[in-house]
Amino acid sequence: MEQKRLNVAIICGGDSGEYEISVKSGKVVMQHLNREKYRAFLLIVRGSDWQVMLDDGNGLPVNKDDFSIRVDGSHVRFDVVFNAIHGTPGEDGKILGYFDMLRIPYTSSSHLVSAFTFHKNSCKQLVRSTGVALADSVLIRKGQQADFEGIAQRLGLPLFVKPNSNGSSVGVTKVNAVSQLPEAIAKALADDDEALVETYIPGREIGCGVFEYKGRKIVFPLTEIISKKEFFDYEAKYSPGMSDEITPADVDEKTEIEIKATASELYSHLGCRGIVRFDFILTSSKIYFLEVNTVPGISQASIIPQQAKVMGISLESLFEMAVDNAFFKPV
Ligand SMILES: Nc1ncnc2c1ncn2[C@@H]1O[C@H](COP(=O)(O)OP(=O)(O)O)[C@@H](O)[C@H]1O
Ligand SMILES: [Mg+2]
Repeated sequence: MEQKRLNVAIICGGDSGEYEISVKSGKVVMQHLNREKYRAFLLIVRGSDWQVMLDDGNGLPVNKDDFSIRVDGSHVRFDVVFNAIHGTPGEDGKILGYFDMLRIPYTSSSHLVSAFTFHKNSCKQLVRSTGVALADSVLIRKGQQADFEGIAQRLGLPLFVKPNSNGSSVGVTKVNAVSQLPEAIAKALADDDEALVETYIPGREIGCGVFEYKGRKIVFPLTEIISKKEFFDYEAKYSPGMSDEITPADVDEKTEIEIKATASELYSHLGCRGIVRFDFILTSSKIYFLEVNTVPGISQASIIPQQAKVMGISLESLFEMAVDNAFFKPV
């Protein structure tokens, strides 16, 4: 008898500037999920409008009472969620609270871990307790009076200003003079209620994927990101040719071991689940934690697929492992 296939909802889209990228990630998962094991559906989330995209291009509304759809007269309830929403409401955990309430497993970190890791300042506070190096920073809330001179004096120049909860470098500015600070903060606050101002860390940017699969940690090869822009901004991230991503990164063995060990330790310390990417800045003396992406890009050109390829893991295997792992409960 044919084994019942699991209904997998690949959620993508979302309500941030990363919508398009997320839909690309979702489509890549859709293409590579094993059809013998899974019945996969591409589910695009936009506000309260949740639709499953059918092959003919039509959309089917999702019934949120039990997270199901009606296809060809039959009731299909999703068994598991592949979270491919970068930004809100996927990567920040909002939608995961709903899946928790319905007891539907998902591939990414928990609701709580997603929420605090997406909040860059909260995440930094937790990372600080491990002794890993971090850029000094100040959090500015909307409506709060900021002492621009005082900030520049305390943190030095240049500075990086970014929305505290966002991704893909949307709203991020490098500030070289105090006079540019008010505008950069206003730009970050256009995307978020809080802006994070950080000391600029000059160095090499290195990404490292980590995935704990059924209790065993897999640390991916390192990738160095060399931006052709002043930093790894939105254009450098998504326009072909605007950045070079080198996997495995050309770093000495000692540094490689240290970065991988740091990524692995932070994964456990923060309580991550699923496939996660840690970003660091490597200076001549230290490894600085930049940020963690709990729903990293997984389109063909993204860093995690490049790292998996170098490891000899196909996207088919990687995504199958991710779905499988969503059901794993440590004892
Ligand atoms: N403190 C910093 N020092 C140097 N470069 C930085 C710093 N903060 C951010 N950047 C640059 O800006 C990019 C985006 O910042 P990041 O914190 O990763 O935000 P996002 O979540 O939008 O990716 C980084 O990839 C890096 O190139
Ligand atoms: Mg980043």
